[in-house]
Amino acid sequence: MTLIDSFGRNINYLRLSVTDRCNLRCVYCMPAEGVRKLAHDEILNYEELLLLAETAVAIGIEKIRITGGEPLVRKGIVAFLGTLSQISGLRQLVLTTNGMLLPEMAEGLRKAGVQRLNISLDSLQPETFARITRGGDLERVLCGIAIAEKEGFPIKLNMVVMRGTNDDEVLDFAGLTMVKPYTMRFIEYMPTRKEPNWQSLAVPGDEILRRIAGAYRILPLDRDDSLSGPAKNYRIDGAAGAIGIITPVSSHFCSECNRIRVTSAGKAKGCLFDNTEYDLKTILSNGNRAALEKALRAIVDRKPGKGFIAEKGSNRKPFDMSKVGG
Ligand code: GTP
Ligand code: 5AD
Ligand code: SF4
Repeated sequence: MTLIDSFGRNINYLRLSVTDRCNLRCVYCMPAEGVRKLAHDEILNYEELLLLAETAVAIGIEKIRITGGEPLVRKGIVAFLGTLSQISGLRQLVLTTNGMLLPEMAEGLRKAGVQRLNISLDSLQPETFARITRGGDLERVLCGIAIAEKEGFPIKLNMVVMRGTNDDEVLDFAGLTMVKPYTMRFIEYMPTRKEPNWQSLAVPGDEILRRIAGAYRILPLDRDDSLSGPAKNYRIDGAAGAIGIITPVSSHFCSECNRIRVTSAGKAKGCLFDNTEYDLKTILSNGNRAALEKALRAIVDRKPGKGFIAEKGSNRKPFDMSKVGG
């Protein structure tokens, strides 16, 4: 079964946020004071999340990425992932995390059947890392990454590149791929909260690539597979790992978009930058599989052809990435 939208795109990838809560406060994601937390009864419970995942897979979703907030702070997440990984027809169960809890959780995640991890890592300098994450412990995250690698996880690292903050580390991160089998992704900063100074922070993907190409010989790689996300991939000649560039601002990838997302409150979004949200919580709490299937198909049918984040005059409302999961 395939889910084809009205622009002919095959929608096979669901990003599922399991919590809006987080143990960090990254500057590009949240204000310093944090955001209003949803109450426990506002977020989808595990029964509802499972029904959502099973129904999505039954109609054509083949990959589920678990996101947050920070997904690993939700109680019972490992057991839930163990249940999800058993869904027949689900080809990829993957997770995006800030890595803070990986030292104690990586082994359980592997056993639960999570296949890959994408881990945020915005700096290799302890002070810069703590400043960007507002209190994150670099040592802890590096230790978590090492343990995850030992557990056999393929690893992608996500760096949101911000001028004057961490962009001086682009070559250090690129160099890391010479010795480590990680895919290092450089992500353009998205002004999701419509921050007034965002343009001074932005570093376009082509500038990032030029900087790397000035120091190394880089070769383009094919897209991972039909389930992959928005990165364009490269490899430094002779490197153990790879490089990905994600350009949501300078060059959108909407024609290849294969995903929908559901927030922790059960609001489905056809596009990260579209204001329209479809409430699935009521249908899910009634356990109505047929209505859910219909609602998911309608979201795919109405998925916009394009989403814009930075255009002048756009009516996009500011939103918190921690509620949507990126
Ligand atoms: P893979 O499955 O490994 O390809 O991962 P992914 O890149 O799809 O997921 P990840 O959670 O690591 O996200 C990396 C970056 O891409 C984050 O900054 C996301 O916000 C961003 N991203 C993912 N999908 C979209 C999208 O549809 N639109 C936009 N604008 N950004 C996206
Ligand atoms: N711009 C770009 N990437 C972002 N992420 C969170 N907020 C932003 C933003 N404003 C990334 C995180 C994480 C992924 C889920 O989304 O770094 O790796
Ligand atoms: Fe937490 Fe991720 Fe947002 Fe950082 S980007 S505050 S780790 S949800």
